[in-house]
Amino acid sequence: MRICVLPLAFALLSTFDVHAEEGASLAQASSIPHPAVIAHRGASFDAPESTTPAYLLARELGADYLEMDLQRTRDDVLVVVHDDVLTRTSDVAQRFPGRENKPVSDFTLAELKSLDAGSWFNQAYPQRARKAFAGQRILTLDEVIDIAEGDPDRRPGLYIETKVPGQFPGIERQLKARLQARGWLDQPGRVILQTFDRNSLALLHEEMPQVPKILLLWVGKGSIEPKSGQDFADSGEQDKAAFYARQAPKDTQEFLRWLDAAKAAGAIGTGPSARRSDLGEQSYADLIQPWMNQASHARGLLVHAYTLDAPEDFAKAMAAGVDGLFTNRAGQLLRFYNRPAVPEEAQVLDRLGY
Ligand code: G3P
Ligand code: CA
Repeated sequence: MRICVLPLAFALLSTFDVHAEEGASLAQASSIPHPAVIAHRGASFDAPESTTPAYLLARELGADYLEMDLQRTRDDVLVVVHDDVLTRTSDVAQRFPGRENKPVSDFTLAELKSLDAGSWFNQAYPQRARKAFAGQRILTLDEVIDIAEGDPDRRPGLYIETKVPGQFPGIERQLKARLQARGWLDQPGRVILQTFDRNSLALLHEEMPQVPKILLLWVGKGSIEPKSGQDFADSGEQDKAAFYARQAPKDTQEFLRWLDAAKAAGAIGTGPSARRSDLGEQSYADLIQPWMNQASHARGLLVHAYTLDAPEDFAKAMAAGVDGLFTNRAGQLLRFYNRPAVPEEAQVLDRLGY
């Protein structure tokens, strides 16, 4: 019995090592750190998402990339905002009554800059609130680049998502122009482009063929077809997040079809959703099962999964063979990877004057 078990254990171990090595060499080929620490909307567990303190904190903790969602103002400036509308993360309803449900593109930069993008965080998370978060401003792409360039000892890259790109024709070309003007297109692996939208992926590839690109994956309309065959709108369910969290790809072929589509459109990897232990039924579909990651690596595609914050989830994802993680808790993930000299979040925020 013992004679059988030990070789099996070694065989499993070496299979795992082979897949980890495959991912590492794919990352190396694109000059991408492995495993990559991607600070999702900055260090957004500890500071208001997509604001200066969130990005400064992510940089000072040592994150590999500052993640951001790109949109455009009415007067054509590239800004960093996640949601289509501003109600969740600002005082837009008080500042612009009657326009609160308008999209980001309805506002000029001056109007967006007049919003308080920090007080909502203090109200939502009183245990992590800081007075200086109140009155934080929405940032432009250039301001996030300034932060990425602002400390010679910490040089995070940029991980940029074209958000709802159908609303912003030409945003891919405009992004290229800004990155080029700032000298970010000549530095291998320092910028990664990401999108859920296959059309935007193709346009990003056309504009910036040399820049690594990731196709984000989820199960639902416009992405992987669900086994349930249902869309939320037709499901009769009340809880959107719970509905989507329960979805799974229709079948193996449907998942593989999306990998092939990513590859064909010029992506060097995918960004699949991952299940979160801390969100219960509000989690995301599990698209990082070992066979999925192996199939990605077999096609020469890296896997950067979103968005995990708990050490037990980090461990599961790494064991399943992913090559990097989007996280709201960059410090926690850096410590999990045993990266050297990761400071405490509260101390960094104190030092930065927040
Ligand atoms: O960009 C990766 C992850 O951020 C995708 O989800 O909705 O947080 O942009 P979301
Ligand atoms: Ca994003």
